[in-house]
Amino acid sequence: MHHQWLLWPKFITLTLTRMSMVVLSCLKQHLLFLVLRFLFSSPTGKALPDSRLIQPLVYMERLELIRNVCRDEALKNLSHTPVSKFVLDRIFVCDKHKILFCQTPKVGNTQWKKVLIVLNGAFPSIEEIPENVVHDHEKNGLPRLSSFSDAEIQKRLKTYFKFFIVRDPFERLISAFKDKFVHNPRFEPWYRHEIAPGIIRKYRRNRTETRGIQFEDFVRYLGDPNHRWLDLQFGDHIIHWVTYVELCAPCEIMYSVIGHHETLEDDAPYILKEAGIDHLVSYPTIPPGITVYNRTKVEHYFLGISKRDIRRLYARFEGDFKLFGYQKPDFLLN
Ligand SMILES: *[C@@H]1O[C@H](CO)[C@@H](O)[C@H](O)[C@H]1NC(C)=O
Ligand SMILES: *[C@@H]1O[C@H](CO)[C@@H](O)[C@H](O)[C@H]1NC(C)=O
Ligand SMILES: *[C@@H]1O[C@H](CO)[C@@H](O)[C@H](O)[C@H]1NC(C)=O
Repeated sequence: MHHQWLLWPKFITLTLTRMSMVVLSCLKQHLLFLVLRFLFSSPTGKALPDSRLIQPLVYMERLELIRNVCRDEALKNLSHTPVSKFVLDRIFVCDKHKILFCQTPKVGNTQWKKVLIVLNGAFPSIEEIPENVVHDHEKNGLPRLSSFSDAEIQKRLKTYFKFFIVRDPFERLISAFKDKFVHNPRFEPWYRHEIAPGIIRKYRRNRTETRGIQFEDFVRYLGDPNHRWLDLQFGDHIIHWVTYVELCAPCEIMYSVIGHHETLEDDAPYILKEAGIDHLVSYPTIPPGITVYNRTKVEHYFLGISKRDIRRLYARFEGDFKLFGYQKPDFLLN
């Protein structure tokens, strides 16, 4: 009896001490962020004129989020991918400045490639690179990581500055659809004449509909758990619509910075600075407004597409949404 009365308070004190230690260590992290936020913001709560001051925090948080999502067992299939030849083909190498750039179409990749081609020295300035050479990696002096030996690949992955750019996953798909199947300014007839008919044959719901490929057909193809069957026939053209996970393996490769298309005005100069090349090149001017997420446009494209098909599409791209901090589009799913 006597003993028990003595033991209880001790047990409680110990438990409380342990709990408070955990709470304190959490608080410490949050306080650090709060203090940094406070230091870098003006008394009115608005960001200082030079908004670049708060950036290191934003980029740290992005990398932290990726690390956390990569550890989530329930998302393993959607966040992990082997560092295959397909991935190594997506990564371009600037040896002179020790930079690796993973190509993710529809977020201004041509501009980044031009910047790196100039840095590698094949052309003296961005304006002097002929359009037909930008994507010709035999001639533009911007090799793919896959063209190196295993040891050379590992060395570069370990020591180089590595980055890529992402944007809202659904807006990206809309952009790819428009660019490849509707307008196709680059004249790539195989999208409309080979790929589109392949998708329509397998995924068109309304068999009496004779129009060319519709966004709905595209959504049903991408959301099909057996999409790989068609992917294999389309070859590398699928880079325009496979997940960022499949393109760049963000859980396997420790990237240095992830840029967001939506904040490119800040992110582009930050990447140049972190890569140590801001004194050598600048990112071309970004037309105002083009990088802003447009919910009206997204709603417009998904109008009339069944919830089931949209949910299947989300199920495929959930890894990209979670890894890069894009909000789940509940307005489309529910
Ligand atoms: C993950 O993918 C593997 C192989 O494709 C499959 O066998 C497994 O069931 C998947 N796991 C989940 C949780 O989806
Ligand atoms: C199928 O497509 C045809 C041709 O565009 C259209 O007239 C018809 O209403 C469509 N049917 C359904 C169920 O949407
Ligand atoms: C958003 O998209 C809609 C429909 O495509 C377009 O009419 C509108 O101008 C866009 N808004 C902005 C701010 O770009």
